Amino acid sequence: MAKRIDVSGLSAFYGTHKAIDDISMTVEPRSVTAFIGPSGCGKSTFLRTLNRMHEVTPGGRVEGKVMLDDENLYGSNVDPVAVRRTVGMVFQRPNPFPTMSIFDNVAAGLRLNGKYKKSALNDIVERSLKGANLWNEVKDRLNKPGSGLSGGQQQRLCIARAIAVEPDVLLMDEPCSALDPISTLAIEDLIGELKERFTIVIVTHNMQQAARVSDRTAFFNLAAVGQPGKLIELDDTERIFSNPSVQATEDYISGRFG
Ligand SMILES: Nc1ncnc2c1ncn2[C@@H]1O[C@H](COP(=O)(O)OP(=O)(O)OP(=O)(O)O)[C@@H](O)[C@H]1O
Ligand SMILES: [Mg+2]
Repeated sequence: MAKRIDVSGLSAFYGTHKAIDDISMTVEPRSVTAFIGPSGCGKSTFLRTLNRMHEVTPGGRVEGKVMLDDENLYGSNVDPVAVRRTVGMVFQRPNPFPTMSIFDNVAAGLRLNGKYKKSALNDIVERSLKGANLWNEVKDRLNKPGSGLSGGQQQRLCIARAIAVEPDVLLMDEPCSALDPISTLAIEDLIGELKERFTIVIVTHNMQQAARVSDRTAFFNLAAVGQPGKLIELDDTERIFSNPSVQATEDYISGRFG
């Protein structure tokens, strides 16, 4: 079930270092929002505040509010583990559990959630692998280890694992940066399909990718090294790439940055 994200006044720290400052934005359901900006501006940090992963880092601390529809993810009675189930994440490097079979990789999150009958588990694993456009390639070797797949297949396996638990939101941090162009296009097509069901946020350094896959784009930047990153501009992707309102955005997307 796709949900809307509404962030207000969000800052994140590593110890005393403030990595992102006072970010407010919304992410619309059933859409793809791309985060772009130079290295170190806090894209990954901000992404991790959206599923309470930031605080897992020693010294990691967050101020501000993240509403997922009508629930504040930082409310005092909210269980961070439950949040991470609702807001799934796919990482830069595909990280299947290496000794687990393809089937068990997809079923891993479900098994943590409780007991499923074998037949129900089979159905969900098949549906998730189909959803990740991987089923046809692996249906005859579900019991083989996930680590035996190609990089692009492994990344789709991780996406299958993430969607198996039916999250509301899918966060992706540079999911294609370790992949070849063909696998990259496969993932991009998949993102286009997944946005029918999920709210998707993707971090990318690839401007063409942001332009291809996202509906809205957020540009982050830092005033100087050591300063916290800030949200500079968020708008329809088409507008960001054709006629942004802020000069720094224009400079960055046209490669004049730095
Ligand atoms: N574990 C950490 N401990 C301390 N500081 C960190 C940690 N992770 C990131 N930072 C700092 O927080 C700031 C933002 O980093 P972050 O990784 O979020 O940037 P980014 O925009 O994702 O960069 P990139 O495009 O290179 O992935 C940087 O100054 C970085 O050095
Ligand atoms: Mg990053």
